[in-house]
Amino acid sequence: MNDKNIPTPYASHAPVTATTGDNGESGHCDEVADTHQQWVLAQADISEEILDENRDRGRHSVPLHGTEKTIDVLPDVFSPEIFHGHELFTPTLFEELDDYKKRHNGVTPSLLEIGAGSGITGLSLYKTGRVAPVTLTDISDAAVRNCRHNIELLQCGSQCMALESDVYDALSPGTKYDVIYWNHPWIEKPEDFRHKDLLQYGLYDPGYSALRRFIVGLSQHLSDDGVGYLGFGNFGDEKELREICADANVELSEVKRSVGDEGGEVEFVLYKLTPCRDV
Ligand SMILES: C[S@@+](CC[C@H](N)C(=O)[O-])C[C@H]1O[C@@H](n2cnc3c(N)ncnc32)[C@H](O)[C@@H]1O
Repeated sequence: MNDKNIPTPYASHAPVTATTGDNGESGHCDEVADTHQQWVLAQADISEEILDENRDRGRHSVPLHGTEKTIDVLPDVFSPEIFHGHELFTPTLFEELDDYKKRHNGVTPSLLEIGAGSGITGLSLYKTGRVAPVTLTDISDAAVRNCRHNIELLQCGSQCMALESDVYDALSPGTKYDVIYWNHPWIEKPEDFRHKDLLQYGLYDPGYSALRRFIVGLSQHLSDDGVGYLGFGNFGDEKELREICADANVELSEVKRSVGDEGGEVEFVLYKLTPCRDV
């Protein structure tokens, strides 16, 4: 909790803990939508304060999950030290991808990560042998430079590349991946909102336009048995997320939800996204 007594998913420095998912029950959607409206109105200043903390942090290093290594976070890039969603999403993806590999006779899946930021999740998955090859993308050129820096730092060689892209725009239409993941900027802003700098892309998705394109494009960019994952949270608009998935004929199921601190108000959620395929 912050000094304005408003719950925020970002300012907590408490470790993120998790519960197992409920596989997509949506009984509390209306209640969540109301809470969401109130919270969106209340949190604007708070999220900007935390972005300022990120702006002031400058270059720093953070541990890479599942290894003894660190990566660098460069200025103007979404910091895993300040924003804690990756603490739930990355270890949960470790488990998911270990299962994926078992189901596919030990074959290592390829990964496309949208909005990779510093590369914390995609590079953790790669350096622990869970995915290859890896394409990291971001709309922010600072983030793409940061990913390239960390790819070199970790000596990933030609198995990892970073690309500036607005969701799938820079990919050729036929390119397919076994796993596609995005820790999405889940605060919805009005459609006419304009990001004032690169860091704001880390939190705000006007009209959920990028989220919609991510979900609709999955069937085009996933391999036949491929699977999508979405990092989200209970103060994103879960009702709208479900509507987007239903419209796109994509099945949404909850994999894991963190137990929020401060009385459980704030939760991160990892969802699995499976396009309904014609048989
Ligand atoms: C919540 S941050 C996650 C960063 C990193 N993956 C992590 O977990 O620390 C969302 C990321 O998505 C990027 N992003 C926002 N809109 C995007 C878009 N339309 N296309 C690609 N990336 C986008 C942001 O620049 C930011 O790096």
